[in-house]
Amino acid sequence: MKSLNIGIIGAGLMGHGIAYLLAAAGHIVRVYDPSAEWRASMPERLKSARDLLDGDPVLLDRISAHDQMASAMKDVAFVFEAAPEKLPLKQQLFAELEALTAPDTILASNSSAIPSTRIGEKLKHRDRVVGTHFWNPPHLVPLVEVIQNEKTSDETIRKSMDLLRDAGRKPVHVKKDIPGFVGNRLQHAIKREAIAMIAAGVCDAETIDEVVKSGFGARMAVLGPMEQSDLVGLDLTLDIQNVLLADLDRSTEPTAFLKDKVARGKVGMRAGEGLRKWGPGEADAVRERLRRFLAEQAKTKTS
Ligand SMILES: NC(=O)c1ccc[n+]([C@@H]2O[C@H](COP(=O)([O-])OP(=O)(O)OC[C@H]3O[C@@H](n4cnc5c(N)ncnc54)[C@H](O)[C@@H]3O)[C@@H](O)[C@H]2O)c1
Repeated sequence: MKSLNIGIIGAGLMGHGIAYLLAAAGHIVRVYDPSAEWRASMPERLKSARDLLDGDPVLLDRISAHDQMASAMKDVAFVFEAAPEKLPLKQQLFAELEALTAPDTILASNSSAIPSTRIGEKLKHRDRVVGTHFWNPPHLVPLVEVIQNEKTSDETIRKSMDLLRDAGRKPVHVKKDIPGFVGNRLQHAIKREAIAMIAAGVCDAETIDEVVKSGFGARMAVLGPMEQSDLVGLDLTLDIQNVLLADLDRSTEPTAFLKDKVARGKVGMRAGEGLRKWGPGEADAVRERLRRFLAEQAKTKTS
């Protein structure tokens, strides 16, 4: 693919990772962020990503930080927005982008939960507005959900998927702009059941993690749940669902158990306790283990 000019909105956790990924694919990437602090820390964060992945040293020269949106968005073919998760802010940014970009520049939002339908609702040219939901860290986790809203053109989907595939991602086409898209709906279906089992005293949080990591999670990177259903046979899946489904948690709001944890400040690693207890150094060890694991996977896939 030829080198394109690409704009990024937001130099934070997701924005700098998306910038790294696209620069590594050969594109010129300009990152707009109004915060001098975030702009100043970006080179160090990009260098750390490059060191972790043994990336080409010159790729960082293709990324620049901008304090004005107009200079960052000049002649861009794509914009990836990774600003804070607030609808009025994202709508405002997209209105400014419409004024600064060509009508066929693709405007993609990395929102975790806000439908791109809402983000782009006031724009004139809505066919080029799309959701691209990267997973953190975006330069290490391959999946990107490319979400088509009612106005997004097929051409926008195709171009977005081509760009992401060329950059070494695994884009998937999500055909409806629904809350949570696909990945977070699946994750939260698991979390709802897991938290309900802990609250009911079936097992503790350590057991849930062990069951997933040593059980079905151990094979999931090579065998998705649909492949697994076909592997064992849909007749068995039907038999199990006949017994199990009526017994699964069907809460339509978070459990009192979860609300109480949050109310008491037990929010997880940063508080030393959440669903599990976190002693000194334990949370950092988990973060480092995850970072190394994802980097190894990323390097294996590109080598
Ligand atoms: N963190 C995750 O795991 C994750 C995963 C997927 C999607 N997302 C989504 O990505 C988006 C960004 O999340 P993040 O975790 O990178 O947040 P972050 O707080 O790390 O970064 C946000 C950045 O936006 C900048 N910003 C603030 N106001 C701005 C403005 N008016 N214009 C441009 N930039 C502005 C901030 O200075 C900051 O650098 C959110 O929509 C979030 O929901 C996050």
